[in-house]
Amino acid sequence: MAQDTWTAVDEYVTGLLAPPDEALDAAVRAGEAAGLPQIQVSPPQGKLLHLLAKTIGAKSILEFGTLAGYSTIWLARALPADGRLITLEADPKYAEVAAASIAAAGLGEIVEVRVGPALDQLPQLEADGAGPFDLTFIDADKVHTPDYFAWALEHSRPGSLIVADNVIRDGRLADLSDDDPAIAAQRRFHEQLAAEPRVEATTIQTVGGKGYDGFSLIRVLD
Ligand code: SAH
Ligand code: DHB
Ligand code: MG
Repeated sequence: MAQDTWTAVDEYVTGLLAPPDEALDAAVRAGEAAGLPQIQVSPPQGKLLHLLAKTIGAKSILEFGTLAGYSTIWLARALPADGRLITLEADPKYAEVAAASIAAAGLGEIVEVRVGPALDQLPQLEADGAGPFDLTFIDADKVHTPDYFAWALEHSRPGSLIVADNVIRDGRLADLSDDDPAIAAQRRFHEQLAAEPRVEATTIQTVGGKGYDGFSLIRVLD
C-alpha cells in the first residue's frame, strides 16, 4: 500500500468533500502558469484548515508562506466579513500571483499579502499592533518554523490555534542521524513544544497525493 493508493483516496475524498471550486482551482492554475512550485496543501488539508478556523470562530489569521494563495483562500473563506488575514511571502512574484487570485476570489478586502522574508517582516507587524491571532498557519521556509512558532505564541490569545505544516517529511523527523537543517529544525520545534507550558500540542502523520508528511496542531492554553 503506497503512493498510488494514497493518491486515489485523496482524489476520492476530494471529489466528494472538496469538489471543484472556481476560485481555488484558478489559484492553482495561476500558480502553475507562472511556474510556481506545486507544493500547496492538498484539497482535504485546505478544508481541514478551513474547518479549524470556523470551529474556533477565528476572526484574525496569520499565515507564514503564501505561495499561490491556495491555503490563504481556504482560510480566509472561514472568516466573517469583518475578519482579517495577513499572509507573509518572501518572493515578490509569488506574492503578486497570489494577490491576484485572492482578489479574484473576492477576498481582497480581508486578506493582506505582505512581501519579504517573514523574519524581517515581524518587527513591522509588531509595530502595526497586529494580532492577537486566533489562528496561525506556519508553512514557509522550514528552518525557521521554531522562530515563527515563538513569535506566533507571543501574538496569540488563550484558545488560539497554531498549525505547522511539513513537520514529518517522509519520516525524517524521527531519524536522529538526519542533520538536514530543515529536518533538525522540526526536531527543535518538537522539543520547544514539549518544553512550553503555555500550549498543548500534537503531531499527526499524513499520507496523500503529495506523499508522506504531517502537521503539528497546537492550542494555546486558557
Ligand atoms: N501555504 C501555501 C504553501 C506555501 S509553500 C499553500 O499551502 O498554499 C512555502 C512558501 O514559503 C513559498 O511560497 C516560499 O516562497 C515561501 N517562503 C520561503 N521562505 C520564506 C521566508 N523566509 N519568509 C516568507 N515566506 C517564505
Ligand atoms: C515544500 C513546502 C511545503 O510547504 C509543502 O507543503 C511541501 C513541500 C517544500 O519546500 O518542498
Ligand atoms: Mg506546506
